[in-house]
Amino acid sequence: MGIQIRDLHKSFGDKAVLKGFSVEAREGETLVILGGSGSGKSVTLKHVVGLLTPDRGDVVVDGDVVSELTLDQLFKLRRRVGYVFQFAALFDSLSVADNVGMGLRRHADMGPGEIRERVADCLEMVDLVGFEERFPAELSGGQKKRAGIARAIATRPQYLLYDEPTTGLDPVTRAMIDQLILRMSEELGVTGIVITHDIDSAFRVADRFAMLHEGRCRFVGTPDEIRNTDDPVVRGFIEGRPELMEKA
Ligand SMILES: Nc1ncnc2c1ncn2[C@@H]1O[C@H](COP(=O)(O)OP(=O)(O)OP(=O)(O)O)[C@@H](O)[C@H]1O
Ligand SMILES: [Mg+2]
Repeated sequence: MGIQIRDLHKSFGDKAVLKGFSVEAREGETLVILGGSGSGKSVTLKHVVGLLTPDRGDVVVDGDVVSELTLDQLFKLRRRVGYVFQFAALFDSLSVADNVGMGLRRHADMGPGEIRERVADCLEMVDLVGFEERFPAELSGGQKKRAGIARAIATRPQYLLYDEPTTGLDPVTRAMIDQLILRMSEELGVTGIVITHDIDSAFRVADRFAMLHEGRCRFVGTPDEIRNTDDPVVRGFIEGRPELMEKA
């Protein structure tokens, strides 16, 4: 049923960040959300898993209004929605294997052997074979990022939220993560929302684009539509030409 973000409003103090943001990730598609730094992209994703509650409007995931779920229902939802955090957000005191397997241990139906296998599979997908026993402090930034991705996919979620999945990675690793996002979508039918500043990566993975600007949805459309848009704000952003945006 996808993810519907409807008329989302969120302020922090007197700073209005989201001012009626609406966009939909349709079932099975990968939606890329673009927007400048500080525009509210991470804030938007946090609403999808109930880490923030809206001042107004709502987010519907798979037919459930997130802000109306009980805590128990919210935990169940979070198992279906993998979240790749912008800054990895690993637990420093846990090994890589324990970080990746964290969401699995709460499943009564998976034994330790099965969990170990699943963790190994996920680490292989992000090219971190052999890193099971390391601790986050012993990883590079890119390795942490990839461990965060492995954790997000470990529960085989139906939805995946990727907050800057390729930022800070070398080009080869970036391409690998893009492949992984495509595989999740094409082979497993995952519905995804990807936030990225990496325009090349965005065009590789997007079924559709949206742009968040000044708290609202400024643009939504296919890759062809965004390539051909006349909107100077959108063009300025994807072409890296701030002068276009200023004239708008
Ligand atoms: N918990 C919070 N308390 C107060 N202000 C917050 C909080 N979370 C986010 N903000 C503010 O909301 C705005 C949007 O933040 P957000 O993290 O969503 O930006 P972003 O679009 O993800 O930017 P970037 O591309 O740099 O990651 C910023 O001005 C930020 O300072
Ligand atoms: Mg962010």
